Amino acid sequence: MSLQKLVEEKVGYLIVFTLLVISVGLLIEVVPLFGQKSVTEPAPGVKPYTALQVAGRDIYIREGCYNCHSQMIRPFRAETERYGHYSVGGESVYDHPFQWGSKRTGPDLARVGGRYSDEWHRIHLLNPRDVVPESNMPAFPWLARNTVDGATIQKHMTALRTVGVPYTDEEIANAPKDVDGKSELEAVIAYLQGLGLALKNVR
Ligand code: HEC
Repeated sequence: MSLQKLVEEKVGYLIVFTLLVISVGLLIEVVPLFGQKSVTEPAPGVKPYTALQVAGRDIYIREGCYNCHSQMIRPFRAETERYGHYSVGGESVYDHPFQWGSKRTGPDLARVGGRYSDEWHRIHLLNPRDVVPESNMPAFPWLARNTVDGATIQKHMTALRTVGVPYTDEEIANAPKDVDGKSELEAVIAYLQGLGLALKNVR
């Protein structure tokens, strides 16, 4: 019986060979990445999120912004002309979990930092149609009414430190003060305005 016939007719062999092929692929494509500085160390200029940005990022995840927005600029001309430098691994080292995504009902946000004013974001998040009439993005009016939950921020930053984000004791100690009295809207805007700045002006 030829090898091809064996794999095609006996499902057990098919499974074994499929696993073998996947393992070789993983070994060659994924394992070397663990030792590559370009994906394990921050790209020049990439800094850990501030306490307010960490809070904003949580709200971004809670509200499901990632269902409509990717944060991953692919290395193609159509993408880089529109969004700027393509995303590199070293930009995501402090993202736990990363927000790359692939669904784009709205534009990619990987480099949205600094593209608009804080005021633009404020109006846009409260009612997108006030600045982009044809927008089908939902409004998030409650963000302006809710204040940031300062009680959990230290635990969150400590957990991030455990997985490698280099927060100092002082930064963690000051975290509740940094977010104190801030609205969720301010937190989300602080997060958005920090996105992708490191490679913003690189072409
Ligand atoms: C149902 C899909 C959907 C969801 C959910 C959504 N958006 Fe959007 N977003 C869009 C669309 C469509 C646009 C483009 C039109 C516009 O600017 O409003 C957009 C535009 C944007 C822009 C402007 C980007 C640019 O480069 O012009 C920002 C910033 C943004 N969204 C942030 C958010 C945030 C933050 C959340 C979560 C709180 C969110 N979006 C949730 C669909 C969505």
